[in-house]
Amino acid sequence: MHSDFLKCFLVTLLVGVIAVASSSVRGEEQEAERTPDVIFVPTPHEVVEIMLRLADIGENDVVYDLGCGDGRIVVAAAKKYGVRAYGYDIDPQRVRESRENVKKNNLEDLVTIEQKDIFTLDLSKADVVTLYLLPSLNVKLIPQLEKLKPGARIVSHAFDMAGVKPDVVATVSCDDGIDRRVYLWTTPLKKEAERDDDNDFFGSGSLRFDNDEIEFPSLFDDPND
Ligand SMILES: C[S@@+](CC[C@H](N)C(=O)[O-])C[C@H]1O[C@@H](n2cnc3c(N)ncnc32)[C@H](O)[C@@H]1O
Repeated sequence: MHSDFLKCFLVTLLVGVIAVASSSVRGEEQEAERTPDVIFVPTPHEVVEIMLRLADIGENDVVYDLGCGDGRIVVAAAKKYGVRAYGYDIDPQRVRESRENVKKNNLEDLVTIEQKDIFTLDLSKADVVTLYLLPSLNVKLIPQLEKLKPGARIVSHAFDMAGVKPDVVATVSCDDGIDRRVYLWTTPLKKEAERDDDNDFFGSGSLRFDNDEIEFPSLFDDPND
């Protein structure tokens, strides 16, 4: 009796494990792991363009978007620069939207979308990391970002990273009349205490991009919109 129950239990467990493993190998949707740390708000396309320009993407670079939303940043990177790009999101709905975006743009060879918690990722293969999260989440990522290869670039829409000095703070003047900030850091990261007051980032490191300098929408027009 006991052994029948045990057999039944083990078979059920095995079937469950195989189902989960095979769905994740095929890249199929998984259950939500936990609540996202920040809700989905898309980066305007003209800000995406400036983030990618600031990251100075080379042909062999690999781009990671941490919390990829509808996949617009990884799609834009692959479309404009022809590079490999990986988008990670914890929300299955966003993963589905990103994959649809990749498919619609015929970028399956270059772009991979995975349902993962960004705080579990190994970033050592990334040359460029893009963020649109929250100030506290940027800070929480510092231990992972410190493991990026030297010369990697991190660009963040809207939010800085307390304690780490950006190389550039750019202001993007958007179509809707709102100015948005973009921060650029290069690795190895420079601690704020090392900041040279003669080279305050709000002085020589600040840039402004006005509407007429932004090629959007011709470059990044998204067939989904
Ligand atoms: C503000 S949106 C940015 C979307 C996209 N990067 C963009 O700029 O348009 C933040 C995204 O992060 C995702 N997210 C939140 N916490 C996460 C976590 N721990 N791991 C992975 N993704 C997460 C959310 O589901 C959401 O899609």
